[in-house]
Amino acid sequence: MNLVVVGTQWGDEGKGKVVDLLSEGADYVVRYQGGHNAGHTIVIGGKPIVLHLIPTGLLQGKIGVIGNGVVINPKALLEEITLLTQRNFEVTDRLFISEAAHLIMPYHQAIDKASERMKGSQKIGTTGRGIGPAYADKMSRSGIRIADLYDPEHFREKLEVNLVDINAILEKIYKMPPFDPEAIFKEYLGYAEQMKPYITDTSLFLNKAIDEGHHLLFEGAQGTHLDVDFGTYPFVTSSNSVAGGAATGTGVGPTRLDKVLGVTKAYTTRVGSGPFPSELCGEMGEMLRKLGNEFGATTGRPRRCGWFDAVLVRYSVRVNHLSSLAITKLDVLDGMPEIQICVAYEVDGIRLDEVPSSLRRLEGVTPILKRFEGWDESTNGITDYDKLPKNAKIYLEAIEALVGCPADIISTSSKRGETIVLRQPFDSN
Ligand code: IMO
Ligand code: MG
Repeated sequence: MNLVVVGTQWGDEGKGKVVDLLSEGADYVVRYQGGHNAGHTIVIGGKPIVLHLIPTGLLQGKIGVIGNGVVINPKALLEEITLLTQRNFEVTDRLFISEAAHLIMPYHQAIDKASERMKGSQKIGTTGRGIGPAYADKMSRSGIRIADLYDPEHFREKLEVNLVDINAILEKIYKMPPFDPEAIFKEYLGYAEQMKPYITDTSLFLNKAIDEGHHLLFEGAQGTHLDVDFGTYPFVTSSNSVAGGAATGTGVGPTRLDKVLGVTKAYTTRVGSGPFPSELCGEMGEMLRKLGNEFGATTGRPRRCGWFDAVLVRYSVRVNHLSSLAITKLDVLDGMPEIQICVAYEVDGIRLDEVPSSLRRLEGVTPILKRFEGWDESTNGITDYDKLPKNAKIYLEAIEALVGCPADIISTSSKRGETIVLRQPFDSN
């Protein structure tokens, strides 16, 4: 059985914890899109580890695979490998990286930051990691792939051709110093040497693993509403974070993907710019940020917070065809006298039950909110559904009904064991 885990909101849903937990039943954990813009926090023995690029399944002793759909900054990758080794997680012979994956080059990061600066108030609020420019080069067919590094002549040629345009843009438009092709060439050949043991044809590798009866877990980064096709474009990331991306980003055909689990926070957060209909800008938003420790794992930025938006997640149930949900951070809502859910939107007196594709239209909506009574008891660490306060159950059941998808997992703290597992989504039978 092969399972895809995706985020249903704007990222930071708690995919790290859920994937870490489910990795137990998997043989391979596979990243298929994004890059080191992701920040997956896993708490082991009370100590958090934040992974940006390496699949979290490595922490459970599994085989980790980085597919062709991921963009790789080799420096960040090698630093993460060092970090894991220092914390006694051995990656040798357990990490496999696609030779077809595109590289994030130093100029991608420079352009990402400069273009954001130039946009001013229109900025996307990217993580500044060069993700967008790297995917732009991939799509415009000037990207450099990992395999190119092992053909130095070819690599040098591509780099020199690319830098003609890029240096002109940097100097003339962004008023920034140009890059020296020779310096990048040397730097990246150094990385190539260090990465060599991990590089392979991962599509071949994964399909063979499935043929042999192994179980694969696909670890999505970002969330459905940050997907370049299905998110709040242009305030999105530059890859397909939806379940479909797991096929194109790994070379495993879609009929081999059995189930899709959607991770959803019991409320909503967003980092960076873009519409957020159920956002709470006042004291209530502050309180959620504080109680939920809602600060970015990659950039440290405070996350914008708001009520659970059922319209948003219902859309994610559809575009990912979710089999079930994992609802996280329920305990953050403990002690709130009242909790609200956005059940629909309203624009010019008209009720909207779906997320409009037009960003302008989405920006103009007001949320239609439904009130729920809170609960005084602590749900922190509860592992048995029956032990949840009555109002917490009512709230969870309302989420399931409104989005049209059952919850298999409810997470009640950041710790691995502190989870209610109603059904095992990763059932290998
Ligand atoms: P995980 O995997 C939350 C957001 C950025 C910005 C937009 C584009 O931890 O859920 P980018 O650098 O990707 O070009 O930025 O996407 N973003 C994330 N927000 N969690 C993430 O990853 C994110 N990765 C990118 O804040 O709004
Ligand atoms: Mg994150």
